Amino acid sequence: MQKTTENLKSAFAGESQANRRYLAFAKKAQSEGKIGIAKLFRAAAEGETVHALRHLQTLGEVKDTVENLKAAVSGETYEIDTMYPGFISEAQEEKESGAEISFKNALSVEMIHQELFREALEKMEKGDDLEDFDYYICPVCGYPAISEIPDSCPICHTPKDKFEKI
Ligand SMILES: [Fe+2]
Ligand SMILES: [Fe+2]
Repeated sequence: MQKTTENLKSAFAGESQANRRYLAFAKKAQSEGKIGIAKLFRAAAEGETVHALRHLQTLGEVKDTVENLKAAVSGETYEIDTMYPGFISEAQEEKESGAEISFKNALSVEMIHQELFREALEKMEKGDDLEDFDYYICPVCGYPAISEIPDSCPICHTPKDKFEKI
């Protein structure tokens, strides 16, 4: 079972990545006017999501919402305290400015995610749900605007009209 647990984790990681890769490829195909190819990539991406979710379920990593929020806070905390600071300083050492910006944008948004998940966890622990807010996501950095979109993204200055509603 030990091998199988490791294999499930690795299959979850691989399928998750394939999902995002195919969605990126679909957007590219769409921008080239290749509608049929774009749709094939989206269909395959959806299949990879089915696989990834099943592997994660089988690992027993989808629990009740209180436990899931705790897991989310701890994942965000690891990214904020350990992963991105290390990646940012290595990108600076290697003068990889594109990667540095990508990591910094992500780090800024992970801090917001961490806070939102903490607030959600507090609500859950009191037996409440969050309000049913509308969320709008910056397509450049991932910043989540809640209920209202600012004139431009506070992290990367992308204008309001580019935000995508969830
Ligand atoms: Fe996050
Ligand atoms: Fe942004």
